[in-house]
Amino acid sequence: MALGPGSCPDLASLREHIGDCQRCSLAASRNTLVFGTGDPRARLMFIGEAPGKNEDLTGLPFVGAAGKLLDELLVSIGIDRSQVYIANMVKCRPPGNRDPEPLELEACSPFLARQIELIDPVVIATLGRFSTHYVLQNTAPISAVHGRLFRIGGRRVVPIFHPASALYDGSKRGVLAEDFRKLRAVIDRVESGEDHGGPGTSVASGPLAGASSDEAPRAEAGSLGITIEQVEPASADADEGAPAAEQQSLF
Ligand code: URA
Repeated sequence: MALGPGSCPDLASLREHIGDCQRCSLAASRNTLVFGTGDPRARLMFIGEAPGKNEDLTGLPFVGAAGKLLDELLVSIGIDRSQVYIANMVKCRPPGNRDPEPLELEACSPFLARQIELIDPVVIATLGRFSTHYVLQNTAPISAVHGRLFRIGGRRVVPIFHPASALYDGSKRGVLAEDFRKLRAVIDRVESGEDHGGPGTSVASGPLAGASSDEAPRAEAGSLGITIEQVEPASADADEGAPAAEQQSLF
């Protein structure tokens, strides 16, 4: 029996396992499979939707206009792209940049799941509805969940509008900037030790259950077992003067 992605001990062997993938119909039209890029030990991971034209040509995620905006948003919260890991829900470009279809998401998600397990990020920022639905395991509208903090397993998850949305609708730019400030606040709270787990953990197994097994098991909240915590942007400012010396540093 062929071994699955779960048996790959590192990202390089996972990439090798995926090979010249023909597992879904996207293989027919793609130029280059876009595996993901960044620090393999990143504490912050971004998950987008699917490669576009530039990504399909270069093999790198978020290198087009949406990627430029993502870079700017990262810089605005003091993070460089090299410090994070960036992947997508599907690794091949859907023709004409259409939405990925259920069978394509299903074929590709085991590889993303293994990437999450191997990278083991403390914080995941989902960009857009596809990765948000996958990680939160629900179908909540992105407009209802963006900029909020979810805890899943030992991981913090912050859904954010896809940067491409601000390219089509300039009014989203400010919302994106605000969501990145909230993401920074989440990171700061982890770094300062203020957020060391907190209440409300849910998914007990699988890639989305984080490695922070030091957290005590907790009662599940709601049928999905997900606890929602609104992150106050003010906490970003409140932390500004905090001493950094003995803080666990993500960045
Ligand atoms: N949009 C995405 O979701 N991913 C990319 O890699 C590029 C654009």
